[in-house]
Amino acid sequence: MEGVAQMKSATQQGVMRTEQGGIVVLDFGGQYTQLIARRVREQQVFSAILRCTATQEEIRKLEPAGIILSGGPSSVYDKDAPKCDPAVLAMGIPVLGICYGMQWIAKNLGGKVEPAERKEYGPARLDVEQVESDILANFPQSMKIWNSHGDNVLALPPGFHLTGKTANAFAALEDPQRKIYAVQFHPEVKHTERGTEILRNFLFKVCKAEPKWSGAAFIEEAVEAIRQKVGAHRAICGLSGGVDSTVAAVLVHRAMGDRLTNIFVNTGLLRKNEFEHTLEMYRERLGLRVIGVDASERFLAKLKGVADPERKRKIIGREFIAAFAKEAEKLQKGEAHGDIKYLVQGTLYPDVIESVSVKGPSATIKSHHNVGGLPEKMPFALVEPLRDLFKDEVRKIGKDLGLPQEILVKHPFPGPGLAVRLLGKITVESLAKLRESDAIVTEEIRRAGLYEKVWQAFAVLLPVRSVGVMGDGRTYGLTVAVRVVQSEDAMTADWVRLPGEVLERISTRIVNEVPGVTRVVYDVSSKPPSTIEWE
Ligand code: XMP
Repeated sequence: MEGVAQMKSATQQGVMRTEQGGIVVLDFGGQYTQLIARRVREQQVFSAILRCTATQEEIRKLEPAGIILSGGPSSVYDKDAPKCDPAVLAMGIPVLGICYGMQWIAKNLGGKVEPAERKEYGPARLDVEQVESDILANFPQSMKIWNSHGDNVLALPPGFHLTGKTANAFAALEDPQRKIYAVQFHPEVKHTERGTEILRNFLFKVCKAEPKWSGAAFIEEAVEAIRQKVGAHRAICGLSGGVDSTVAAVLVHRAMGDRLTNIFVNTGLLRKNEFEHTLEMYRERLGLRVIGVDASERFLAKLKGVADPERKRKIIGREFIAAFAKEAEKLQKGEAHGDIKYLVQGTLYPDVIESVSVKGPSATIKSHHNVGGLPEKMPFALVEPLRDLFKDEVRKIGKDLGLPQEILVKHPFPGPGLAVRLLGKITVESLAKLRESDAIVTEEIRRAGLYEKVWQAFAVLLPVRSVGVMGDGRTYGLTVAVRVVQSEDAMTADWVRLPGEVLERISTRIVNEVPGVTRVVYDVSSKPPSTIEWE
């Protein structure tokens, strides 16, 4: 399970062009570690995340221009507080410590860190000291920052001077001689004013990094890394119809050509016309070799009458794997002669962050749907070239790969498909109602020019009946909930304030065009505390 950076270290290949002179982020387990890496990439500088315990040799292999020490949930005085090799601070490579990273630097270089009397979480103000500074030069005297820490640095280590403080704590320090910098707040978080400038100053003024990393460079390197990894073997990829698995497949296809076979399963739970339409796009427009498997009858038979969300997920997971395994087995018996060694997946960073520690000691939050359910019995090693990226980065890569716009902007869709948007028992009839309602929501959102502006827009069929009146008669029909959300990465989301006319058109069309539905409601919940999907 690895992204491009690790794939390469696994192959023991030399460092490639655009990786040299990048940034190594050492992970102390902070929830923002990937965000730091992403902010660096946004400046066209390569970034790789390594465990905080990475050795000097591992770090040097990437030939970085700078090192960033991430935040983390621990106190530096915890018994099992994560640690770096202190020699990292003496490698002659500039270092920026963020939050826990700053406390770790202060403690290791002879400063004093203690649990704070007043912990600082959320917004605060930074008073910028009127002193020479490499990373806060020419900043306003006071600016908004974002904090999340419980320890404070009480005494600076020798050689450092203070460049910023909050009402309660030392907040920024630097030692320009050794090129070691530290901030207790989070410059990578959007709520920190001029946070990007702080990172840019570190990257370009201090580290003299060159902005040479790009989507094109990622593609080139990912393709090369995949080639190195898979050698002469074959691979299979489960396509879902979404942007992630498509980008992963196209990348791997570039690396391996027709030694990659894709499998696209129709679960009977896809959106209206999705299977046929997507299959054609894969084959005709992307030139991928795809086996289309119509397993919808089997799925629906197994799901008939099932209402419990967890049971639905389990059945779908099992059936999906069964369909997939059957095709893989056929392939292995056929022309591939047992040579399929790899399984390609379009796993993204947000898919893993909530499940497992990525490369450091990040706290486990929940097991995510996309990561579970792998075909345990199938002896495939995973190829996951997008594992370090966020969705919008994947969309950019997809664009650079020349993927059609239609797939790049497609809204995310859960693996269990319409089954988790149909509350209560699954029947063929209720699926048809949901599919129609969903198509209407999508059509109207498109017609209003909003499809590419929102994260997701969909319908949910509720097993709730209510009284209505149609023509001169009383009705007692079902309810459709409409959910339209805005999000950056699906980890948080807000409901979209749709114009009244759009809501009106959606509602009128659904009750008129979908038999048996007599009421439409709009979901006004954000995530957290709700989730985006209803089940
Ligand atoms: P939640 O509902 O957890 O979803 O806020 C976050 C994002 O992940 C997409 N997604 C899934 N959601 N089961 C889910 O519940 C899945 O298997 C799944 N796959 C992807 C979801 O659509 C939202 O964008």
